[in-house]
Amino acid sequence: MTKHLPALFTSLKIRDVTLKNRIMVSPMSMYSAIDGYATEWHYTHYAKYATGGAGLVCIEASKVDTNGVGTLGDLGLWKDEHIAPIKRIADMIRSEGSISGIQLNHSGRKAGTARPWHGFGPLDRSVKVEGRDHWPVVAPSPIAYLDGWPVPRELTQDGIDEVIAAFAQAARRANDAGIDVLEIHGAHGYLIHEFLSPAANQRKDRYGGSMENRMRFALEVTQAVRRCWPAGKPLFFRVSAQDENGWTIGDSIVLARELKPLGVDAIDCSSGGISVRSPTASNIAHQLGFQVPFAEAIRREADIMTIAVGLIVKTQQAEGILANGQADIVALGREMLYNPFWPIHAAAELGLDPEFRNMPEQYGWWLARRAKAGYK
Ligand SMILES: Cc1cc2nc3c(=O)[nH]c(=O)nc-3n(C[C@H](O)[C@H](O)[C@H](O)COP(=O)(O)O)c2cc1C
Repeated sequence: MTKHLPALFTSLKIRDVTLKNRIMVSPMSMYSAIDGYATEWHYTHYAKYATGGAGLVCIEASKVDTNGVGTLGDLGLWKDEHIAPIKRIADMIRSEGSISGIQLNHSGRKAGTARPWHGFGPLDRSVKVEGRDHWPVVAPSPIAYLDGWPVPRELTQDGIDEVIAAFAQAARRANDAGIDVLEIHGAHGYLIHEFLSPAANQRKDRYGGSMENRMRFALEVTQAVRRCWPAGKPLFFRVSAQDENGWTIGDSIVLARELKPLGVDAIDCSSGGISVRSPTASNIAHQLGFQVPFAEAIRREADIMTIAVGLIVKTQQAEGILANGQADIVALGREMLYNPFWPIHAAAELGLDPEFRNMPEQYGWWLARRAKAGYK
């Protein structure tokens, strides 16, 4: 009798790219870049996941232009010189048998902040930051994120066109770096989410007001990115499936239905961030898998693949999400920080790979022999 393969470890072909399993390392900013350049820290960090068995390693939010920079440690793809160190990481991920992704973002009115471990607050704009002048903070409307945060400059039509072109150029650079999956960051209160939000976007032109108008920027970014991103490579879009100030799961379903014909393959379903401090709401106690119902609803109602994320930590929990048809991929963030070998441990827990063949042979050869000797 052939053993039924757990859903977690079935492969997934999207366009010309095949993920060996359904486990994605969620994009997680390291706030450790220098002038947007990836450093040795990034290489070491992503190498752990490449050898850890995840099907898809999604590199953190990378900023498409300098006005979109959040902290001075943000990763960048706003100039061609950023390509080489990302390519080194992408090559390494491929050589370890995984697929590389990267997320593109513009921080909008949340630009210009301290690193998380320095409080994550808005920088004091009256003094230089690490010897640099401040960069303008732009957004759909001149509405501050929170009290005490800078009032952003309202983007003009030319400014909007420039940001859209910057997203497209960043997509081209990601391809030049050998990245295989691209994710547009439309969540967590950053620029694209700000355009979608009736609270942050109070424009009177064709980008504000009706739902159709508020979606326009997200759709134009997606179209421009798709044009620069090879047809054979998957494109994901991360949404805040619902937020604290007017954007609903129903709105996300409408958006997902619009994104699909533009060439988006999967919706990555996060939430919140438009009017609370923490995009990951990491200080708030949530239930395990609290965002999974969003992935399930969007998958069902918009007939598009979804990625579930948010406190997915246990093997059987992750397996259940996929086996029950709630999502097509599970993304893990903080649990991967804790245990980069999570996919290999999950395989062992599910009774797969007793010979440790999923592991790099430099490790697996030894562990298989240790297991045969009676030690697990
Ligand atoms: C250190 C850290 C950095 C993060 N950076 C990003 C990011 O660059 N882009 C993004 O969309 N989400 C980011 N997130 C959110 C995660 O991708 C994920 O959605 C969130 O942590 C919830 O999943 P988890 O409970 O598995 O950690 C970050 C989270 C952490 C912990």
